[in-house]
Amino acid sequence: MSHKLTFRRKGGSGTTNYELDCSENETIYEAAKAKGFRLPVSCLNGVCHVCRANLLCGSVLSGVSKQLINLQNAERASSEIMLCQSWPNGQCEIEIRNIFGPGELPLKKVKCQVLSVERLKGHVYQVDFQLPAGKQPEFFPGQYLALQLAEKEEASYFSIASRPGLRILSLHIQADPHLLSAVEVIAYLELCVEQKKSASLSLPYGCACLTAIPDKSLILMAAGTGFAQMKSIIEYLFEHGFNRPISLYWGVRKEADMYLKNQAKSWAETHENFKFIPLIADIETIDASDHHNQLSDAVLAGQNNLSESMVFVSGSPKLVFSAMDALMEEGLPESQFFSDVLAYAQRAT
Ligand code: FES
Repeated sequence: MSHKLTFRRKGGSGTTNYELDCSENETIYEAAKAKGFRLPVSCLNGVCHVCRANLLCGSVLSGVSKQLINLQNAERASSEIMLCQSWPNGQCEIEIRNIFGPGELPLKKVKCQVLSVERLKGHVYQVDFQLPAGKQPEFFPGQYLALQLAEKEEASYFSIASRPGLRILSLHIQADPHLLSAVEVIAYLELCVEQKKSASLSLPYGCACLTAIPDKSLILMAAGTGFAQMKSIIEYLFEHGFNRPISLYWGVRKEADMYLKNQAKSWAETHENFKFIPLIADIETIDASDHHNQLSDAVLAGQNNLSESMVFVSGSPKLVFSAMDALMEEGLPESQFFSDVLAYAQRAT
């Protein structure tokens, strides 16, 4: 028999609720872990109290002796239980800190050494940070981070260009002379390298990412330095031996902006399932609105099974919404379209 559990996690932005089913034969921790939840554990035998939580309502069998704790008729408002040694005995409500649902990772702030700031091509720079040993924040491929400049209140946000699991974390920053805030960021980071100062990062952010190895082929559409987000996803998939088709459509305004073209070409040469389609807009000669459609036109010309694909798009809101409309009209389910733009931008009316 299984019982419905509700986890309540209190945090700065209020209470988050999660629901899951747990059978009487598994501990609450085992059920949560099997469903993709992450919560702190250590001994797994009820001794260390790392997995403690408050039973707010309902009843459980607790500890090796399976002692009944029943709050239905009790006077106590709550009772402390160890999730690694608790079995549900009915519907339960449980308050717990530090639980993260499937696809969630804790936001962490870290000080990182800025190892290098290297100009890749044109005005695009690669910045490498060394994450602190033993305290590496986790992120999913495709997520982004916030960089806090010492004297500024507002953070700057950048896609992570490296895959998870590495001690070196990379960003690609486009610092054209008219992009003053990006120019300022590069100057700040160069100073950090020169003076051996660390920089403050917060991560991870964003939901246009891979939380697991996909069971579909991938279409990745990137404009400009949106390539960074796709690079993290691609390198993660290569690392895990993903063998379904991956198609990368990379659009830039001019040839000089395709700052890692050789890298993308070498992926295509070394991985049979990877296709690279570079798109140079030549913005001097075509209408700017055509530039927005160029990526989706290329995808529609080359793909005929959108219903079996996941699509990730990185670019301006106009580009993202026009790609979404065009691909959904040709059969892409909305649930298979991912872009962080959808979380913060409105459609232009
Ligand atoms: S993990 Fe140690 S008490 Fe549960």
